[in-house]
Formats: sequence, structure tokens, C-alpha cells
Amino acid sequence: MKYSDVLIEAKKNIGPHCKVCPQCNGIACQGKIPGPGGKGTGTGFIRNYKAFKAVAINMDTLNKYHAPDTRMELFGLTFDMPIFAAPVGGVQIHYSDLHDDLTYSEAILLGSINAGSIGFTGDGVMAEVYDGTAEAILKYKGLGVPTIKPWRKEEIIEKIRIAENAGAKAIAMDIDAAGLAMLAIQGKPVFPVGFETLSELIASTKLPFIIKGIMTVAGAIKAVDAGAYGIVVSNHGGRVLDDTPATLDVLPEILQAVEGRVKVFIDGGIRTGLDVFKALAMGADAVLIGRPFASAVYGGGAEGVTLLYQQLKSELENVMLMTGCSKLEDIGPEHIRKI
Ligand SMILES: Cc1cc2nc3c(=O)[nH]c(=O)nc-3n(C[C@H](O)[C@H](O)[C@H](O)COP(=O)(O)O)c2cc1C
Repeated sequence: MKYSDVLIEAKKNIGPHCKVCPQCNGIACQGKIPGPGGKGTGTGFIRNYKAFKAVAINMDTLNKYHAPDTRMELFGLTFDMPIFAAPVGGVQIHYSDLHDDLTYSEAILLGSINAGSIGFTGDGVMAEVYDGTAEAILKYKGLGVPTIKPWRKEEIIEKIRIAENAGAKAIAMDIDAAGLAMLAIQGKPVFPVGFETLSELIASTKLPFIIKGIMTVAGAIKAVDAGAYGIVVSNHGGRVLDDTPATLDVLPEILQAVEGRVKVFIDGGIRTGLDVFKALAMGADAVLIGRPFASAVYGGGAEGVTLLYQQLKSELENVMLMTGCSKLEDIGPEHIRKI
């Protein structure tokens, strides 16, 4: 199977809301929730995408040739690229019932492992979703990052224990999920988490804890002070609040504030290896990608996921070659410019 075949299959399978657009930019699905759109006017999603397109790459090929090396260290492990599938949940509602959250997560986990990466998985209203995903993570020797929603404290702690028993290499929490109206509609609302509770939750486990949904310097500092291993600069793909800034636009001030004390991931609108390069050049350690992996799963299951990773990695390698970067640490602000 080729990645282009995956996209053809995805169009047939993915349901009425997603058009598997050549440019996944938030326009055709604007405001479509249920569906993969951004909330309200869909501005947050569109801004994320546009911010990456407003950065250009400085080509420089007068360099001695070295084969680009995209490997990175995380959680004491080495991954083949600084690219990870983001957690995506509620797939039957937002896409189609070709998959449920469990088969989706299975495809993400296996496809990520086969590409030399690690997938983040989502959490659901039904306990079976998280529990079943944890079983899959156990089967794959802990290679998965379960992403817990900010339910009540006791429930989060139970879910942390389940992740530990599954041997998960890390845990994440999408603290911005408080904006997900769908959860309240389904009878299981989530709430903002205060600093004390967050500190308690992080202290309750030895696993690296990643806080997903940071969009301000104040939030980033709280996450660092609470003991996070990493943060994801994310507006949940523009799905939890309308009119947020682009994640790439808030990244510099957040990086400056955290001063290297935590790993900094970014997501939202990253579509190609070129976008990955831009995020790293701005100072991020790694990226998460959401919607394109949904197309990959609906078009080719675990194989589709691996093919997307391979495509992104080869694009990243090509930019590194064309900019004289032989390893990720070589990628810096001198390689890009705002246009
Ligand atoms: C349909 C859909 C479902 C999502 N479900 C979750 C989820 O359960 N947990 C979570 O942390 N993020 C969830 N996200 C957000 C993604 O993890 C990620 O932050 C976002 O999609 C990144 O933007 P991108 O899709 O433009 O790459 C979801 C996104 C979409 C499109």
C-alpha cells in the first residue's frame, strides 16, 4: 500500500464530516463538531494551520554531506523521529463507525511502534475505552501514552494506576478538555484542574507526566512548578475554545518562560515534515499530529499510520539535507524566517 492509496481509502471510509482535503486546514470542516472541525467559527484550527504556512525555510546546501539523523530521546528511550500521533477520541461520532475508540487506538499504537515512534491514545466517557487501551498498551510492552481527561481527582488517580499496571512509558492529561461540550452532553463533564490538584496528581506517580493544552506563559509555569515532565502547547486543534491564537504563535513566549525545564511539544496544523522542521527551528522538542492520523487509520489501519510517519520522516530528512542539518540539535531559528 502507498500513502496515496491510504488517502483514497480514507475518503470512502471516514464518514460525512471529514473530506480528507488535500490541505487539512480547517476550512471544509469549519465548525463541524461532531466532526473534525474547530469549535464555533473554527478560527483556532485555521489559525494553527496558517501560522505554519507563514514561516519559510532558508535553503542552504553549501554543507558537507551527512545523512540526516532524525532520532530523539524521550522517557529514556530512543525514537526514530520527533513526531508522535496525538490522542483522538470519540471517533465513531466525529468520523465513522468503521472504527471505535479501541480499534482506533490499537491502529495508532501498532502503527506508531512499527514506525519507531510512540502513539498517544485518548480517554472516553465509557470506562471500557481507557481500560481496553491500557490492555493494548500492556500487549505492546508499554509503548503508548494514555491521555487521561480531567475527571474528578479519584478517577484520575485510578486511571494513573491502570496506566502504571500496563507498563506505560508516560502519562498525559488534556487539561483543556473542560471545553468539550460533547462530554457533558454524554453525562460525564470534565472540569479545569487547579495547581494543588495537578501537583498531587503528578506526585502520585513516578511516570513522566505530560500536560497537554498549554497556551499561556502562566499555564506553562504552573505545569512546570507542578512537576510536569513535558507540556504540549496545544489548543486541542481549536476544538475546545473559539478564537484562540495559533499554537506556533504562543510557542516562543512559552519556551522562553520554561527555560528548558520541561520537554516542549507542540500540536495543531502540523501537516508535513516541513512543518515539523519549522516547529523544531522555533525551539520545540517534538510535535504531535492529530487529524492526518485519523485519515491514516480510516484509510489503512496500522499500516496507514506507519506510512504517514514514514512520509513525514522522509520530508523532515529532506529539509534537513537542504538546510545543512545532520541531526535535530542542528535545527535552529537561523533556518527559518517569518513571511
Ligand atoms: C476528532 C478529534 C478528537 C480528539 N480527541 C482528543 C482526545 O480525546 N484527547 C485529546 O487530548 N485530544 C484530542 N484531540 C486533539 C488532538 O489530540 C490534537 O491536539 C489536535 O488534533 C492537533 O491538531 P491537528 O489535528 O491540527 O494536528 C482530538 C482532535 C480531534 C480532531
